[in-house]
Amino acid sequence: MDILLVLKTNVVSIVMAVLALLLLWKIRGKQSSFERLPPGPATYPLLGNLFQFNIKEAYKYYLELSNRYGSVVTIWLANTPVVIISGYQALKDTMIGLGEEFSGRAIYPLLMKSTYGYGVLSTSGHRWKEMRRFTLTTLKNFGMGRRSIEERVREEAEILVEMFKNCEGSAFSPAKMLMIAVSNVICSIVFGHRFELEDPQFKSLLQTVNTYFSILSSPLGQIYNIFPRLVGLFPGKHKQLFKGLDEAREYCKREAQARMNMQDSSCPQDFIEAFVLKMKEEKDKPNTEYHLSNLVSVIWNMFSAGTETTSSTLRHALLLMMKNPDIQERVQRELDEVIGQDRWPSVEDRQNLPYTDAVIHEVQRSMDLAPISVPHKMMCDTEYNGYVVPKGVMVFPLLSSVLIDPKLWKNPNCFDPENFLDADGRFQKNDAFVVFGIGKRACLGEALARTELFIFFTSLLQHFTFKATVPPEELDTTPTNCSFGRMPLTYECYAIPRK
Ligand code: HEM
Repeated sequence: MDILLVLKTNVVSIVMAVLALLLLWKIRGKQSSFERLPPGPATYPLLGNLFQFNIKEAYKYYLELSNRYGSVVTIWLANTPVVIISGYQALKDTMIGLGEEFSGRAIYPLLMKSTYGYGVLSTSGHRWKEMRRFTLTTLKNFGMGRRSIEERVREEAEILVEMFKNCEGSAFSPAKMLMIAVSNVICSIVFGHRFELEDPQFKSLLQTVNTYFSILSSPLGQIYNIFPRLVGLFPGKHKQLFKGLDEAREYCKREAQARMNMQDSSCPQDFIEAFVLKMKEEKDKPNTEYHLSNLVSVIWNMFSAGTETTSSTLRHALLLMMKNPDIQERVQRELDEVIGQDRWPSVEDRQNLPYTDAVIHEVQRSMDLAPISVPHKMMCDTEYNGYVVPKGVMVFPLLSSVLIDPKLWKNPNCFDPENFLDADGRFQKNDAFVVFGIGKRACLGEALARTELFIFFTSLLQHFTFKATVPPEELDTTPTNCSFGRMPLTYECYAIPRK
């Protein structure tokens, strides 16, 4: 009996020793290719730099490290190295100067859960290039950055104003209505139709997008991204999210298949039809990227990226107007002088509204929606500043470092529209306005987002004065979650009609 026990114990010890040796060998093998990585803080075996910072506000730790080690820093998230790039010059040198090398997208488990390696946002190399080129061209053909898209945004702005009016001056939460308005713009481009407020399918898609971004920006999302298999074993909000994501993909697939069964149309009416036309054109081409998996993921990319970002920004804009009633009043005065109350704002008015334009830019700069952008990945071993960043390594473009750099802004640490105005009160452009990212992977919906922010914000302030349910001094404007994204608060407010 004793002999058996000794034998068993020895076998277990030997297996453990072999596994440990294999692990060490793997880590050493990896480390030899990591010898010339940029500097960074000391790490613990297997854990790396985890537990050295508050995961809830990781980007603040990255900012601290860039002050200590310079514009390129390496940290280890468990046994994965991540290179953080900070400062305008370094971001320009890498994301533009070495744009091809830095153009990969990191394999972030939560991003993969929604797209499975297809689409535009979470792909790299040939697939990404093809999907990005097609998506940009098609969005332009459907009017992005031109008047035709403005019409769609204006229609939604009119409906939004009606929804706010229906609240009849009582306290309400504007979050859902803003999301519906913004989302319906992208829906009419992608699906070719808008959804009614109470449509159960629309409600479920919006709920999934909302949960997706709040989990992405929460500590749970960060931990899932580092230890996906382990966290996946436990119950929690992420399980509910994955169910929602599968249902959303199924809906996108049904929409795509409905177009595939339609008679050929040489004049596509929406994004899906344009993609299906391309699928038919390339059906005999081996290795074509125009297939159902890419289509479903691109639809999801545009719907999710095009909904939460812009509606959160508008939500934060209204919060800042309530916190700063003097700024809100000045915007309204400018709107009254230039547009008046008898017509809707149009993008052409922007050039005559320098203060309003500065306020919208300042909302975006100060809220710093995507502090580490969307993580990139190295496409090949690349030398930069005397260091070598190996192929496959994850890269965080630390956009925050540019958006709060005191050398680049007059008053970087608070909400101040003067950051975008010159001495004569004219709008002043600033290249350090990198909220949409920088270089080859920069946001492909930027033109659409800018049109939406301008038309929705001006239409709302033209019709209403926003007031908080508490005095402005007591209003907290700190975002709720600050990891991957900085999600602004949800709140109740009064929209008091101006006429
Ligand atoms: C206020 C609004 C928005 C902000 C602040 C924003 C910000 C960003 C940022 C920081 C990135 C990552 C850039 C990088 O990888 O370096 C990005 C990528 C992207 N955005 Fe936006 N975005 C906004 C609105 C939109 C809209 C309306 C759409 C809808 C079409 C959209 C679609 C995308 C897509 C598809 C990508 C991935 C591009 C790629 O990987 O090549 N975004 N956005």
